[in-house]
Amino acid sequence: MEDTAKIEFAGKTYEIPVIVGTEGEKAIDIQALRQKTGLITYDPGFGNTGSCKSAITFMDGEKGILRYRGIPIEELAEFATFKETSYLLINGKLPNQAELNRFSVLLNDHSLVHEDMQHFYQSFPRASHPMGILSSMVNALRSFYPELQTMEEEINITVTRLLAKVRTMAAMSYKISRGHRVIYPRPDLAYTANFLNMMFDSPVRPYIIDNDVARALEVFWILHADHEQNCSTSAVRVVGSGRVNLYAAISAGISALWGPLHGGANQAVIEMLTQAYEKNIPVRRLVERAKDKKDPFRLMGFGHRVYKAYDPRAKIIKKWCHTLLDKLRISDPLLEIAMELEEIALKDDYFIQKHLYPNVDFYSGIVLRTIGFPTNMFTVLFAIGRLPGWIAQWKESMDDPDWRLSRPRQIYIGSPQYDYIPVEKRD
Ligand code: SDX
Repeated sequence: MEDTAKIEFAGKTYEIPVIVGTEGEKAIDIQALRQKTGLITYDPGFGNTGSCKSAITFMDGEKGILRYRGIPIEELAEFATFKETSYLLINGKLPNQAELNRFSVLLNDHSLVHEDMQHFYQSFPRASHPMGILSSMVNALRSFYPELQTMEEEINITVTRLLAKVRTMAAMSYKISRGHRVIYPRPDLAYTANFLNMMFDSPVRPYIIDNDVARALEVFWILHADHEQNCSTSAVRVVGSGRVNLYAAISAGISALWGPLHGGANQAVIEMLTQAYEKNIPVRRLVERAKDKKDPFRLMGFGHRVYKAYDPRAKIIKKWCHTLLDKLRISDPLLEIAMELEEIALKDDYFIQKHLYPNVDFYSGIVLRTIGFPTNMFTVLFAIGRLPGWIAQWKESMDDPDWRLSRPRQIYIGSPQYDYIPVEKRD
């Protein structure tokens, strides 16, 4: 197997080492490229650029494969809890019973939020988007928990604190935005059921936890827990590379996830389907608009930078749409529209040639809205799911001897040098 590549430039030949990954994927190691050749690389959006070596998640975009620490996503979605999946991603192995019990106790012990933080929520305008609130409040945690992150133990406490509190903070933003009383976490409820209770319990109408609803949300979180070097994870790594505290790095990840091309797509899909339903827009019209180069409209929930096959997560979440709607005896016209859209698009040459398939966001919003979440909370739910992955990637980067301050270069195409012009002489 080739372990070097050759570059010929300006009459010289350079040998560049090639790195080979566990599954045979290859990379040219260009760490010394500029020093050796004077050349840098140009790759807007980093579609051809490996930023790191990682042992956390493996994706094969052509085959639609996703594994966390070697375990297929299908098995984790079938058999694991979100707590186990979080532990697996962060610690590199599934927890034994003693480790799981200790993790559960720590998550419970750290699930409360400092009472003074409630004043911050009160100060946001009622119409504030929960993603902006969550990003701000996670950053604010540093002010309330300013311990140094030098010792392994302190880092583990900070990690557990974040995993425990993010649910409470998300539910608080929802309750306070509606002028409702904040519901506190309960020691007798498991991770996901606790969040549902904090979101939907009320003094006048106690929330009855349906096990299928809790499992659907837990599978949603397992499916979103990590996805190698996506936009928001890269933001966490880049911000973390400056050795800032973990809260600030995670806050950057939340902000990056917010965009409609990334995690905000789950909200954008429901808005797209709702508009089609309410305005009676034929599905074919949406497909035609998506194909029209002159039209900025994109089919939200379709396409992916890595998957050029069906997103394995979309297959699983689609099944949960049917399971949940059947269990709750609800029919959702948006699901019908989504399924018709998928059927038409997957037979259309444009989508076939560009390898555009449904991604995880295409059906996930239907599960979330069936559970009762408002659309503007969907990306917050994605962030709660992705948090263990962000933390695992941040920890791995901190321990990586190759990892240094992230500082890409550029190719300058601006003006050549010219002298300052006094204002009276300017046009
Ligand atoms: C997530 O990276 C991750 O892992 C992300 C994620 C995770 O778990 O972290 O999986 C979560 O963000 C999923 C993606 C959610 N976003 C959307 O559903 C938004 C709609 N999708 C597109 O905007 C797009 O597919 C992206 C942004 C997801 C990917 O875009 P790329 O890789 O930059 O691809 P591209 O824009 O270069 O598209 C290639 C071609 C283009 O046509 P040409 O210029 O070659 O003629 O496909 C077209 C695009 O116009 N295209 C679409 C399309 N997606 C791509 N055309 C219509 N509708 C779409 N959705």
